[in-house]
Amino acid sequence: MPITTCVFDAYGTLFDVGAAARQAASEPDFVAIKNDWMILADHWRTKQLQYSWLRAVTGAHTDFWEVTQNGLDWALEKTGHAGDPALRARLLALYWELQAYPEVPQMLAALKAAGLNTAILSNGAPQMLDAAVTSAGIGAVLDVSLSVESVGIFKPDARVYDLVGAHFGCAKHEVLFVSSNGWDAAAATGYGFATAWVNRAGEPMDRLPWTPAHHLTDLTGIPELAGL
Ligand code: LAC
Repeated sequence: MPITTCVFDAYGTLFDVGAAARQAASEPDFVAIKNDWMILADHWRTKQLQYSWLRAVTGAHTDFWEVTQNGLDWALEKTGHAGDPALRARLLALYWELQAYPEVPQMLAALKAAGLNTAILSNGAPQMLDAAVTSAGIGAVLDVSLSVESVGIFKPDARVYDLVGAHFGCAKHEVLFVSSNGWDAAAATGYGFATAWVNRAGEPMDRLPWTPAHHLTDLTGIPELAGL
């Protein structure tokens, strides 16, 4: 059966999560992170994800905005910038207006023009996703943003992936799920979606029981994978 529905992870897949620290580092007020913004961004992202998994396995759910702040606080302390509240505030503000990767608008427009369903499926809280979609100007080419907040647990719990079928009424194998997170693409493969891992950074494959069906370096190949 052909792909009818293309579903995208948000942070790191459609939106450039490194953009917040990169942008702040270029501003005169935050020269303190000019040399280590990449390390800061890396710690921030790693801790944000670790906290999401730990909260999922312990049943101590909170929303993604909370774990995003918790991850940043750890990363600021680790890199010696914990005593800079203006930097913290600027990085958090920038997280609400992350840039989309350059190929995103055209790629989504191609899918919509072909009549496919398009969606975000993300850990992000609904308000975070709305802000990112608006700031990237891609609302017209997305049918819906599905947030884990409607099931109260983070990825890769299967209840999150269930949101796609519940919303569109489609079968699992009609869904192409796209993520830059190897663990997310792998778990979605185990769930039963067709999957693409967008590996911009050339990371090694995660050692998990499942392997993403497709391996790309950016999103330009998605329409072709979807059968266009
Ligand atoms: C998301 C994170 C995992 O958007 O990137 O769900």
